[in-house]
Amino acid sequence: MFCRRNDSVFSITQILHIYLTMKKNIGNVLALYPTPAVVVGTEVKGKVNWLLVAHVGIIGHDQIMLSMFKKHYTNEGVKQSGKVSVNMVNEAMLERADYVGCTSGAKTDKSDVFVFHRGEAGTPVIDESPLVMECEVVDNYETETFDNFICKITNTYVDEDCLNGKGKPDYDKLKPVLFEMPNYTYLRTGETIGKCTSFGKEYRKEK
Ligand SMILES: Cc1cc2nc3c(=O)[nH]c(=O)nc-3n(C[C@H](O)[C@H](O)[C@H](O)COP(=O)(O)O)c2cc1C
Repeated sequence: MFCRRNDSVFSITQILHIYLTMKKNIGNVLALYPTPAVVVGTEVKGKVNWLLVAHVGIIGHDQIMLSMFKKHYTNEGVKQSGKVSVNMVNEAMLERADYVGCTSGAKTDKSDVFVFHRGEAGTPVIDESPLVMECEVVDNYETETFDNFICKITNTYVDEDCLNGKGKPDYDKLKPVLFEMPNYTYLRTGETIGKCTSFGKEYRKEK
């Protein structure tokens, strides 16, 4: 048996599902997750410092945004040096990534938490991170409590065994750790579903 709703035809089971799973407004909850967790590295007062950042964004095709609480120890270093490394986190380094996310460089020297070398642009590149971007800070969209650093990517380093046949990062192999704030948890990346636009093109053909 079928019914019409908003000009679409639904089975009784679908209609029942729609009514049984009515959405509840839970307020203005920040819910745009998951996002990748990254370790940001920079130099503060002549010493390397790391912190964990998961409020990251993409601006255009060559810039990213790091949203960092103004009172963090790292921010001064980011402003002074004007450059950062953005190190993707995998599960093998999660314990230490989490540590730099709950320990401040203001009180504790975090410089030796990760083995690193200097990238071509001089930022500290974590050896065990499978993908690292060196970035130049080109702008800061300041809000009352946050520095939102706009960063231009200068170099991207990827473990060779995490590149696919076309020389592109393979996220099934990289397995970046993801983050969500409402429950304050880390998530595992899922599997590839399919090529972008393949589904849309199939749908277009059916119409
Ligand atoms: C899972 C997780 C995600 C975090 N994401 C952010 C973030 O996006 N922005 C931010 O300002 N702080 C974030 N933090 C907090 C900082 O990493 C943390 O306060 C850190 O200790 C600051 O280091 P610092 O004082 O040496 O700069 C996050 C922490 C955790 C555990």
